[in-house]
Amino acid sequence: MTTTKEEQVASAKEAAGRRAADMVQTNTTVGLGTGSTVWFTLVRLAERIQSEGLEIVGVPTSIDTTEKAKELGIPMAGLGEVEKIDLTIDGADEIDGEFQMIKGGGGALLREKVVASISAREVIIVGQEKVVEKLGTTFLLPVEVVTFALPTVSRALSALGCEPVLRVSDPGVALMTDNGNQILDCRFPEGIDDPRALEATIASIPGVVESGLFIDLAQVLVIGNEDGTSEVREK
Ligand code: 5RP
Repeated sequence: MTTTKEEQVASAKEAAGRRAADMVQTNTTVGLGTGSTVWFTLVRLAERIQSEGLEIVGVPTSIDTTEKAKELGIPMAGLGEVEKIDLTIDGADEIDGEFQMIKGGGGALLREKVVASISAREVIIVGQEKVVEKLGTTFLLPVEVVTFALPTVSRALSALGCEPVLRVSDPGVALMTDNGNQILDCRFPEGIDDPRALEATIASIPGVVESGLFIDLAQVLVIGNEDGTSEVREK
């Protein structure tokens, strides 16, 4: 039977998403990332809640994930009720050999980074094509910005050698994040030489809420393959 490229990509995402969900232990708090790969994790967690009585409290990283987890019957809590998260499962847009990442393709970078920052363990689920030698070579770097500061932040980012473009939800309509901000997607023509330094520099620009550079936040990488198998790497 032949499968389309789309089906193969979905199969890789499913393999990674389910494998990570099987790492979750009962009576734990679980950060629930955002995106199409995380969808498969949510489905598997819901299955385990039903079939094994897995007891978890999920902490969602976006409105989208909140709605999906609610529909699947996954219990959830907010950051007011949860101080520490045992394990977070999230996707990524690029991840390098040091497990540094670009995230935010789905626009949820701010909440994803907050949740990652209080997680004892962050498990990243991706297909092989997202594992890169150098960040910024296959994906734009998202930067979440308050609306008022878009022009000044855009100029400051350009001065760092990138080309920022306002993300739109429809032609001519700026995308609004779950937090009421906008996103500038930045293309670095040669990729990003020093992700750690760049993260700090971007964070220091007034009006920047957060960047999609995730530094030292991931400990485990689950790579899904198109044949439905998966591989786990530890930092
Ligand atoms: C959302 C994210 C996602 O984790 C990232 O974009 C990967 O998404 P997908 O699993 O759909 O490829 O950072 O802000």
